[in-house]
Amino acid sequence: MADEYAPISVLFVCLGNICRSPLAEGVFRDQVERAGLEDRFEIDSAGTGNWHVGQPADKRMQATASRHGVMLTSRGRQFGHADFKDFDHILVMDRSNLHDVLFLDRTEQFTDRVKLFREFDPEPDDYQVPDPYYGGDDGFETVYAIVERTSEALLASLMAHYGLTEAG
Ligand code: 4NP
Repeated sequence: MADEYAPISVLFVCLGNICRSPLAEGVFRDQVERAGLEDRFEIDSAGTGNWHVGQPADKRMQATASRHGVMLTSRGRQFGHADFKDFDHILVMDRSNLHDVLFLDRTEQFTDRVKLFREFDPEPDDYQVPDPYYGGDDGFETVYAIVERTSEALLASLMAHYGLTEAG
């Protein structure tokens, strides 16, 4: 059980850290803020690849999020071994991300911290968030819908686990 005053740290991980995980970070942060729980959480995202380090989220992903009232402000960074110690909950977008993240945990010390994000989705399909990067605009809307409902369920699950209720 976490220290009562330690933030609950949540990291979202995808491949490029410019589409799916920045969206999950932004949507989850928005939901946490609306629940008045921003002091209780530390939220970030990262990519397993390094191509987009330092870059803002993809413009198409930003536009989709913005239409739903969510601003994406994160900059790309690469997932690293230190993240296993820094984050209690590491939520990955697809099975390839799961493989790449677990591969870095050679001693299998942190396996319990890593989960497919869509394990929390009430309608999980194949448990993966599809990569919208090479597709059309409707792919970004589909990803938004998946991320919004999964994020809501994740927050409900964490609130129940840590005994949190909505503040203010
Ligand atoms: P993401 O999407 O993993 O959701 O950020 C991608 C973004 C960029 C690339 C692949 C996936 N890329 O190959 O550059």
